[in-house]
Amino acid sequence: MEETKFNQIGVSFKGSGSYVPDQILTNQEISQKVDTSDEWIKSRTGISERRISSSGDNVTDMGYKAALTAIEMANWDIKTIDLIILATSTPHDLFGSAPAIQSKLGACNAVAFDLTAACSGFLFALITASQFLKGGNFQRAVVIGADQLSSYIDWNDRRSCILFGDGAGALAIEATNDFDNLIGFDMRTDGERGSFLNLPSNNNKDLIIDNIDFLTGGFSPIQMNGQEVYKFAVREVPIILDKLLKKTNYSSEKVDWLLLHQANQRILDSVGDRLKIPREKILSNLEKYGNTSAATIPLMMDEAIRNSSIKKNDIIATSGFGAGLSWGAALIKWG
Ligand code: UT7
Repeated sequence: MEETKFNQIGVSFKGSGSYVPDQILTNQEISQKVDTSDEWIKSRTGISERRISSSGDNVTDMGYKAALTAIEMANWDIKTIDLIILATSTPHDLFGSAPAIQSKLGACNAVAFDLTAACSGFLFALITASQFLKGGNFQRAVVIGADQLSSYIDWNDRRSCILFGDGAGALAIEATNDFDNLIGFDMRTDGERGSFLNLPSNNNKDLIIDNIDFLTGGFSPIQMNGQEVYKFAVREVPIILDKLLKKTNYSSEKVDWLLLHQANQRILDSVGDRLKIPREKILSNLEKYGNTSAATIPLMMDEAIRNSSIKKNDIIATSGFGAGLSWGAALIKWG
């Protein structure tokens, strides 16, 4: 077995970054396309507007910009980065977009790869990167969540098109040898309930030559059973967070911020109520961006760090959940 280079026991959080496209789509504007209203969308979801990528903003570009700002906050020499993980379900290149981000950054000593777990993707990627750092072979990692779901939405389906937007966020994390600011985590999937939320492949039969056929590649728009996803989230997220708090010996009063995947304000409030975490501790920027899938958690975190809501040593209980079905939780101390 290869020997580890460092004696590392934990990770610390050194920087955050984010990026959203300029183009804004308001509820009012969506109601010109499908039978809905600003009032319905706001009251059922908390969303007022979302950002939509135009030609200059694919996942690679957005992820790059988010990563660069996180690295700048960390004040790292780019050549010292060992690992880049991009959580995305909508890569610019199906073979993986992380190496393109690595190249744009000039992070020539890093290994970069994509990880797909839909709206849980960022959390899964953060936990994965932390395990690499704790393993002792890598010291510095950038974890990016970026998605461009606008390209995969059925813009005639009012039940789903109102929810999603595009964006990216990133965290810069470093190995430590005397403490661990990823206090605890848990991850779950349940493929049995996978049909509640899909971005499925759509393959058509074609012929290569007379007697050999093949399936063309492509995807159908997002298919979602909103009510089932809602029920799943308000049931499973409090359970996984509650178990994590118990496991790590933290009471919910010790939590400074509840940072959930930004899917629906009613989900955020319901989870907060079940955990007895007051509304003023629930971070939310859904109103401006909607659900940006793998990007919501780092996008929200970056905003709260830059406006000084999240301060050094604050305890953040975070949970991602979504397609798969997949869900996870982490207890983090910022800094
Ligand atoms: O990362 C995870 C991603 N997915 C989610 O987070 C989805 C979680 N689910 C939700 O957020 C909610 O289920 C939705 C916001 C999607 C829907 O809200 P709801 O309160 O569960 O509405 P519903 O599906 O029960 O529909 C209620 C009514 C229906 O009309 P009828 O059958 O009662 O006449 C729908 O046809 O609202 C209608 N409706 C709409 N009306 C106006 C559904 N979408 C719309 C709309 N505008 N956009």
